[in-house]
Amino acid sequence: MKKLVIANWKMNGSLTKVEEDIKSYLSNSITNQENVILSLPSVYLSFATKQLDSESKLKIAAQDVSEFANFGAYTGEVNAVMLSDIGAKYVLVGHSERRNILKEQSAKLIAKLNNAFAENVTPIYCVGELLEIRQSGNYLSYIEKQLDDLLAVVGLKSMIIAYEPCWSIGTGLIPTMQQIDEVAKFIHTYVQKKLECVKIMVIYGGSVTPVNAGDILALASIDGLLVGGASLKVADFTALCELS
Ligand code: PGA
Repeated sequence: MKKLVIANWKMNGSLTKVEEDIKSYLSNSITNQENVILSLPSVYLSFATKQLDSESKLKIAAQDVSEFANFGAYTGEVNAVMLSDIGAKYVLVGHSERRNILKEQSAKLIAKLNNAFAENVTPIYCVGELLEIRQSGNYLSYIEKQLDDLLAVVGLKSMIIAYEPCWSIGTGLIPTMQQIDEVAKFIHTYVQKKLECVKIMVIYGGSVTPVNAGDILALASIDGLLVGGASLKVADFTALCELS
């Protein structure tokens, strides 16, 4: 099976870009594949899924889901039922920008994971250490704590875990292949030991480009890529899908 290639547009894009990029991806047999996922701003999700038809293989992901499961007085929130309703198949949870800028912590992330699983929206759960944690040498125990939140999730099903070192996101700094492999193997081992019988794919994110992606994808411990900046350029994202 081909490795996953997941675009994370973050807070970028426009109606025109969503329409044009999806048209291009759907018309190309390399990008219109099961392993290709586009994570878009919530306002464009419904418009994006409406462009897919029964021939479409690529999938649409949300970038966030509410910690609140039910409908009600939660102004500005979008719950997992709504994501499922409009055809989003995946959702990012625990991205470092939400952990660090929006200060999302364990209780909120666990609620989001629970809500996504309850509606069969597959979470892409992001973990990764800050630069000072990497430099202190304590990065594996830091990541282990982030993984421990999964132990509190009810009805854990198959999911994707993205290893995204914070110091690599948007910086152009790429860990060595040994550093990526070490953490990916650590996550696989954690899952085998503590989350028995749950199928997990481990992907890497942080300054991925068509130049460095080949080496990362060649790692047996890595099942795919989560791509920010390079996913905004159709040519680069298409090249990444070619490499998968
Ligand atoms: P980047 O972002 O590829 O721009 O470094 C990755 C991410 O934040 O998912």
